[in-house]
Amino acid sequence: MSTFQAPKGTYDLLPPDSATYLAVREAIAAPLRNSGYGYIETPGFENVELFARGVGESTDIVTKEMYAFETKGGDRLALRPEGTASVLRAALEANLHKGGNLPVKLWYSGSYYRYERPQKGRYRHFSQVGAEAIGTEDPVLDAELIILADQAYRSLGLRDFRILLNSLGDKECRPVYRDALQDFLRGLDLDEDTRRRIEINPLRVLDDKRAEVQKQLVGAPLLRDHLCDGCKAYHEEVRALLTAAGVAFEDDEKLVRGLDYYTRTTFEFVHDGLGAQSAVGGGGRYDGLSEMIGGPALPSVGWALGVDRTVLALEAEGIALDVPAATDVFAVALGDDAKRRLFELVTELRKAGVATDMAYGGKSMKAGMKAANRSGARYALIAGERDLAEGAVQLKDLESGEQEALALDAVTSTLRARLA
Ligand code: HAM
Repeated sequence: MSTFQAPKGTYDLLPPDSATYLAVREAIAAPLRNSGYGYIETPGFENVELFARGVGESTDIVTKEMYAFETKGGDRLALRPEGTASVLRAALEANLHKGGNLPVKLWYSGSYYRYERPQKGRYRHFSQVGAEAIGTEDPVLDAELIILADQAYRSLGLRDFRILLNSLGDKECRPVYRDALQDFLRGLDLDEDTRRRIEINPLRVLDDKRAEVQKQLVGAPLLRDHLCDGCKAYHEEVRALLTAAGVAFEDDEKLVRGLDYYTRTTFEFVHDGLGAQSAVGGGGRYDGLSEMIGGPALPSVGWALGVDRTVLALEAEGIALDVPAATDVFAVALGDDAKRRLFELVTELRKAGVATDMAYGGKSMKAGMKAANRSGARYALIAGERDLAEGAVQLKDLESGEQEALALDAVTSTLRARLA
């Protein structure tokens, strides 16, 4: 072991497991690519103010979990704790919303950072694939995104997940509800911290996991009963579209989410095999975020799915993804001249798209064949001076053990055909 270890709350992705992570990212991105979403990449850090205003001054993410720092030049920056504020900032900066073609549909994939208390499924560095549809208010978009996430999870073979759905109302009806909820909460027997939360973000109190708090919350006013007609109709339409698409969901009026920008539709994908950190993905509508960060009114909706937790969900369901073998052909040479010639052949195979590796260093035949077997390759190409002098190499099928001589100029075409 070296003197250094990965920082607390982080872990390294190493082969062969890392192949599963790549496959998960790929599986989440595929339905998005197929539905008009364009790829966007933004910096790993932003002006800290963007998150303070966007995600919300009273959220745990901003008050406790942000990696904020001052640069040598005096800029106040933060490692991104999430992607939505950054993506919207980038779209506004590039005037993507002025192209006359709304919504602007974007997807992204990357690393995010939150200074959280590490536990299984909760890390300080984690990975998300996300999607945002910017600039249009249309329940079809909300439904589309939920359907695409469902499709992504199903394409991975996942079954034990549920979709929780709620509406948080809009700038008309939520304040009315907030007042009613605050009135109710102020009458309860709660600790100092929670009383403070009532004044800053009363909806979060509904989310309190403690039994003594939950007991008192029975009979609390429900947002459902306070939604304005517009929000109610919008929500009913989203629900109807999901039902028509055959996507099952559960209404969950307690679903609040940990970011302040949400309006109307909110949803979470939870997996039942994950214990406490069960949310594998989440998202919703954020009609006011653009204005909060200085842009025009741009009603939008999106989600982010956690790659780390999706991999844990696969493990919980015992699903091993069918990741293609890293190496199809492994070349072993006997002697320096043979090695030089074989290396040429390896390069040719690689150019032709055949995944090829070889034995390096002065490995013996025995060690070379051991490496070939360990590589998972289907075929070994074995070449000694005598074979090469005759213009041939040995091709060994590592599954059946059969071996045959193959003319040098037939190697690439033969292997391509057999591996196809
Ligand atoms: P979020 O719910 O904070 O939403 O994160 C989305 C997903 O990222 C979570 O469901 C979880 O799978 C994963 N995740 C979050 N924190 C951690 C962590 N500490 N360790 C491991 N995984 C984690 C957002 O980030 C919003 N930007 C989603 C969104 C997009 N809303 C609208 N558009």
